[in-house]
Amino acid sequence: MKPDRNSTPSLLDVKGLTRRFGGLVAVNDVSFSVKPGEIFTVIGPNGAGKSTMFKLIGAFIRPTSGDVVFEGKSLVGLAPHQAAARGVVRTFQETTIYREMTTMETVRTAFHLQCRATSLGAFFNTRQARADEAEANRAAEEILELLQLQHVRHEQAKNLPHGYLRALGIAMALAARPKLLMLDEPFAGMNPEETDAAVQMVRRIRDQGITVMLVEHDMHAVMRISDRIAVLNFGRKIAEGTPQEIQNDQNVIDAYLGQEDEELGI
Ligand SMILES: Nc1ncnc2c1ncn2[C@@H]1O[C@H](COP(=O)(O)OP(=O)(O)OP(=O)(O)O)[C@@H](O)[C@H]1O
Ligand SMILES: [Mg+2]
Repeated sequence: MKPDRNSTPSLLDVKGLTRRFGGLVAVNDVSFSVKPGEIFTVIGPNGAGKSTMFKLIGAFIRPTSGDVVFEGKSLVGLAPHQAAARGVVRTFQETTIYREMTTMETVRTAFHLQCRATSLGAFFNTRQARADEAEANRAAEEILELLQLQHVRHEQAKNLPHGYLRALGIAMALAARPKLLMLDEPFAGMNPEETDAAVQMVRRIRDQGITVMLVEHDMHAVMRISDRIAVLNFGRKIAEGTPQEIQNDQNVIDAYLGQEDEELGI
């Protein structure tokens, strides 16, 4: 389902966003809007500023100038957990997953980090705490089902293959109930079958009503999955459009020259 871009209000507006690191302008006056329900992908050559852009949107770093507006309100100046509470969440690195915990324990723990069940109420085993506990269990089951992790629910993370760990990192992010989920290179290091499964997984997440932003180098996957694409090069946005528009954009083709044409899927 592709939203009508003209009538739907934006979920996210990036406005003239700029971030300097000393003399380097990693993100240079970039603007774009993301509509609710879109899969919006940021591509560009290595060092183009993609990850920096995600960090700016998630309030992990502050812009030198410009604004990040989410649901009509600026996120600039918030701490990352405050942006997450507003609904802007990025995935956890695999290295933050505790190796001894099972899949279910990991997702339940992620819920505890943002739910009242860990408060004094849980200590006194109040009715509210028991209700919270039941709700967290139900929601965790839903996430495991969405990511097709039910059959490894009792498996410790240290025994899980790479692709499952990646999904578990996304499961932890979903426990924070994001409105906008940001995935930085979710398909990196995957073989074609794993990528196919991960593409389906991202689509199922979007079909739950969660807007998805991706940074990704796997151009075949990008062209299949994205509703819209923004292209960065040396920190600047050089193109924005549908996969088809991007594939035919001369600026984009020039930016990728020197890389394999195949990378662009052209
Ligand atoms: N904390 C930092 N301090 C100084 N320079 C940084 C910092 N973070 C990023 N940079 C620089 O900013 C530029 C953009 O980096 P960024 O990680 O955003 O690129 P990217 O598009 O994600 O690249 P890749 O595809 O390789 O992941 C690079 O030149 C990088 O070296
Ligand atoms: Mg990066």
